[in-house]
Amino acid sequence: MGSAEEDDQPRPSDITVFGANCTLHGLSHIFLPGGVTVRRLLWAAAFLSSLSIFLYQVAGAVMDYMSYPHVTILDEMDSPVMYFPAITLCNYNSFRRSKMVRNDLFWMAGMLGVEQNDFDDFMAALGQPPDNSKFFPSKTFNMLEFVQRTSHSIDEMLLDCKYRGKDCGPENFTTIYTRYGKCYTFNSGLDGNPLLTTLKGGTGNGLEIMLDIQQDEYLPVWGDTDETSYEAGIKVQIHSQDEPPFIDQLGFGVAPGFQTFVSCQQQLLLYLPPPWGDCRSAPMDSEYFSTYSITACRIDCETRYLLENCNCRMVHMPGTSTVCTPEQYKDCADPALDFLVEKDNDYCVCDTPCNMTRYGKELSMVKIPSKASAKYLAKKFNKTEQYITDNILVLDIFFEALNYEKIEQKKAYEVAGLLGDIGGQMGLFIGASVLTILEIFDYLYEVLKDKILGSVLRKRRPHRSASDNLDFSENPTSPGVTSNHVPSFHDGDDVLQKFRAHATHSGVTRTASDSRRTCYLVTRL
Ligand SMILES: *[C@@H]1O[C@H](CO)[C@@H](O)[C@H](O)[C@H]1NC(C)=O
Ligand SMILES: *[C@@H]1O[C@H](CO)[C@@H](O)[C@H](O)[C@H]1NC(C)=O
Ligand SMILES: *[C@@H]1O[C@H](CO)[C@@H](O)[C@H](O)[C@H]1NC(C)=O
Repeated sequence: MGSAEEDDQPRPSDITVFGANCTLHGLSHIFLPGGVTVRRLLWAAAFLSSLSIFLYQVAGAVMDYMSYPHVTILDEMDSPVMYFPAITLCNYNSFRRSKMVRNDLFWMAGMLGVEQNDFDDFMAALGQPPDNSKFFPSKTFNMLEFVQRTSHSIDEMLLDCKYRGKDCGPENFTTIYTRYGKCYTFNSGLDGNPLLTTLKGGTGNGLEIMLDIQQDEYLPVWGDTDETSYEAGIKVQIHSQDEPPFIDQLGFGVAPGFQTFVSCQQQLLLYLPPPWGDCRSAPMDSEYFSTYSITACRIDCETRYLLENCNCRMVHMPGTSTVCTPEQYKDCADPALDFLVEKDNDYCVCDTPCNMTRYGKELSMVKIPSKASAKYLAKKFNKTEQYITDNILVLDIFFEALNYEKIEQKKAYEVAGLLGDIGGQMGLFIGASVLTILEIFDYLYEVLKDKILGSVLRKRRPHRSASDNLDFSENPTSPGVTSNHVPSFHDGDDVLQKFRAHATHSGVTRTASDSRRTCYLVTRL
């Protein structure tokens, strides 16, 4: 009797048992014992459509996540103390005429666009006597020394300097070389001076300098070359101490004869690295700079480009390689650098850093000197009124307010959000959770186990008697085999039938199937 009845009993691997117990809504309505009914078909259709909507939504959510979206947040952050930026300024004129000597002209003529036979005229224009007779050019020429000697000096240019009402002087400026020659940085953070801070916004809490641009010292323009400039004034860049100035590209001009007010707003930009954004988070791999910034990257790249192409560096470039001669400047370095800056977009590709500080600015200006003050200023500085009008400028740089703008890219969709969305869709459409998935795996495991045990059983059956079943059912130590059930295996067919009918339609199913399962296992053992 054993084997036939055993196959009729609902096993854990039976789909109806699974359907009745699974937490997946709908399954219990679909997998019922008995034949196919319209009701069950409708339930099956509803379940399948819910399942497909769910899968469609999940695919959408996963694709959304894989596109790594980001949002940009703009926030205004208050700060009790703010670090004052570095301010670099350069005179538009590179070489002072009074410091030029005939030997310089001999070497620099090409760069300045002066022909050999114009030397005397040029020296006359410089206001120096043409003394051709006793002139012997030097064998070598040091470009760096020339720039150091002839560039405008801060001691002569700076007439007045105040930071937050406190006097400052040329000693508070650091020398730095740029394409304009010698330039000066205020609050560079170098030289062991601590960074200056400011506690309030407004004009009185920033830097105010008065400069004499010394137009009398501007070199006469003789011909069109790379080095000539037609302008008078200074170039200024407001930048973070972490990045070197790049004043010929990023500076703004300040004109003599005006007082210029520059109201700054600090901006902190935080970008995301790939795959969310495209900023560069890797540290700088340069022998010249330690902190990565677009400017540092471009200067580094230009330096390498010139070293490759001209075998020398320009005066303003970092490193210890030999400085180009004026000849190299004219024939190689200047054209190469101009080509690199204007045409070659592939050589210097500098990614945005993930973290950078920028200074937004608003400029306004008033005339200086006024008619009323011209006479006084002329007397004060022992110059003519015309000289004051042509050469004096005042520059005010201050924070607009003691806050900064934070512009931050943030990940718009992270793993937690993705899981939450999938969980929500799961609950809404199929009423499942992670544990339901485990239940399905558990069921599949049971099915698999049954299949394997079944095949083993079929092979073994001929050699075993039905008394196998009796052996274990009488074993009192078998777990799960309760005394209630034991008799049902031995009693007549009608009792068994009743029990089965009862069992499949009530909660007893589980107990029965559990005990069956145990029986099964014990049999195999
Ligand atoms: C300028 O430099 C001097 C000497 O190093 C220092 O004592 C002074 O505090 C500086 N002033 C400013 C405004 O930085
Ligand atoms: C930005 O970088 C600076 C130094 O490079 C660091 O001190 C600062 O904490 C960084 N800011 C953020 C928000 O990561
Ligand atoms: C003013 O400048 C002239 C030359 O420009 C000079 O001779 C004179 O001594 C100066 N006066 C003072 C008080 O510095």
